[in-house]
Amino acid sequence: MKNMRLNLIAAVCDNMGIGKNGDLPWRLKKELKYFSAQTKKVNNPEKKNVIIMGRKTYFGVPESKRPLPDRFNVILTSEPEKYEFPSEVIVAKSMEDAFLKLDEPKIKDQIENVWIVGGHSVYKEAMESPMCHRIYITRVMSTFDCDAFFPTIPDNFNRIKNDEDIPEEVQEENGIKYQYQIYEKV
Ligand SMILES: NC(=O)c1ccc[n+]([C@@H]2O[C@H](COP(=O)([O-])OP(=O)(O)OC[C@H]3O[C@@H](n4cnc5c(N)ncnc54)[C@H](OP(=O)(O)O)[C@@H]3O)[C@@H](O)[C@H]2O)c1
Repeated sequence: MKNMRLNLIAAVCDNMGIGKNGDLPWRLKKELKYFSAQTKKVNNPEKKNVIIMGRKTYFGVPESKRPLPDRFNVILTSEPEKYEFPSEVIVAKSMEDAFLKLDEPKIKDQIENVWIVGGHSVYKEAMESPMCHRIYITRVMSTFDCDAFFPTIPDNFNRIKNDEDIPEEVQEENGIKYQYQIYEKV
């Protein structure tokens, strides 16, 4: 796992917000489908991707929809004994602990990519890691009342052209404009 490249994915509004009251500040169905498609995408159909998230992000997903299907769900919490998790999720006490757990032979061989899916401190730690490769950001072009925010993108990331299957043009849903962007470490 040490050589594994990490990708981040986040939807971020003009004031850098990502969440409010444990939920997303907006309802963008197509954007959620994009998140799902990106994080599920594999070249080898025998493999699956990993999504790593903080405890609040995990519990922010409606109960009926978690763990998120077709991906290894890794949840970070300093108090794993305090919460109930289904047996198929991987619970880790730190990012390092998460990578140790993913490094176990039975799991390691089934992994294609690792996606960091939030929230604030998980994004920050991952962006500062030498393993971080790309940041997939959906720029939500409005201001929302938020209580969780995306950290500042380090200077050593530059915007690049989108992958072929990701539209460059501005999208619109429910009167809210947004644009898919990709940043890559220089
Ligand atoms: N717009 C987006 O793309 C997007 C993406 C993700 C989330 N969100 C939103 O953001 C909000 C949640 O984000 P958040 O920043 O408030 O919380 P979060 O990062 O999801 O969860 C924070 C918790 O995760 C655990 N944690 C984080 N880093 C850890 C580490 N290195 N080691 C061990 N435990 C760690 C801690 O849990 P314990 O307190 O249990 O120790 C911490 O209190 C929600 O509103 C959600 O809907 C939005």
